[in-house]
Amino acid sequence: MRRGSIIQLTAIGIVAGAIGTAVALLIPWLPTAAGKEADRIHFVYWFTTVIAIVVFSVVAAVLIYSIWKFRAAPDDDSDGPPIHGHTTLEIVWTAIPAVLVTAISIVSAIVLAENGKAGPDPLRIHVTAQQFAWEFTYPNGKKFGYLTLPAHRSVKLDLTANDVIHSFWVPQLSQKQDAVPGITTSIVITPTKLGTYPVICTELCGLGHALMRSHVDIVTPARYEAWVRNGGATTGPAGLTVFQANGCGSCHTFKPAGATGKVGPDLDNLLAEAQKANKGPLAQFIHQSIVDPAAYLEPGYPDAMPHIFGQTLTEKQLTDLVQYLVQGANANK
Ligand code: CUA
Repeated sequence: MRRGSIIQLTAIGIVAGAIGTAVALLIPWLPTAAGKEADRIHFVYWFTTVIAIVVFSVVAAVLIYSIWKFRAAPDDDSDGPPIHGHTTLEIVWTAIPAVLVTAISIVSAIVLAENGKAGPDPLRIHVTAQQFAWEFTYPNGKKFGYLTLPAHRSVKLDLTANDVIHSFWVPQLSQKQDAVPGITTSIVITPTKLGTYPVICTELCGLGHALMRSHVDIVTPARYEAWVRNGGATTGPAGLTVFQANGCGSCHTFKPAGATGKVGPDLDNLLAEAQKANKGPLAQFIHQSIVDPAAYLEPGYPDAMPHIFGQTLTEKQLTDLVQYLVQGANANK
């Protein structure tokens, strides 16, 4: 092979590799990892992605080079030369992928084994799924509709279901586990990043499947201890309790609640948004947006908020929540 050809092949390979790398790095494919297990799973993704980019570069280089250099002239109707294969080449292009796939298997097996280890003293929480809600039972027997977890402690969730198959998923924790009637499955979580993340049912389980959402609050160990001592009530304003119990933070960002949801409008911008909407005083605007979300849709957002809170919240809860959001919005000025 001529030196010129090798340089051309390499150049095409580098361009293809650069394009592949840009696509991998510039698009945020994965959510921020909020747990040790998620970090490991993300490592497997990146390990596989690097291999895929290298393979893509080689294949693209050979393919583009061949199309460019060996194309038949438009008037050339003759047969190509007879080719009877190339044993060495065939061995090489079988052996290298075999080695790569084996490497991915080994890395995945190690991660899977590590992610299953709960350590000697995990916090055990029983998860019951049913159409269309999650229930989390703590070691002291108290039950909640949402999860509160201390950071940096290994947690073992034991899952079951009352009716049909559901599946537990927190994107930022990366793992999924089915909740199946009649058996108990489990999943180990070691949260590392404070915040509020959505809990999503990821198994089609009936009409309310899309609304079968809750959230997980990952808090400092000290705040977790305080939460347990308080009988699980959220410490802080009454409105915060309503905010957390109804999973508002799964969809909305709101700094005072430590919520980082990205599905719906950012509630830290409530003041500016209320002015744009021009629907009366801030409290009135917030109240209407909760009980009748379609009354005003922030530009760029679909009518995705459940139209249930007018019925599910008591008058007192609604007042607390509105007051809490108004205070937060004003504190943000
Ligand atoms: Cu439960 Cu989908």
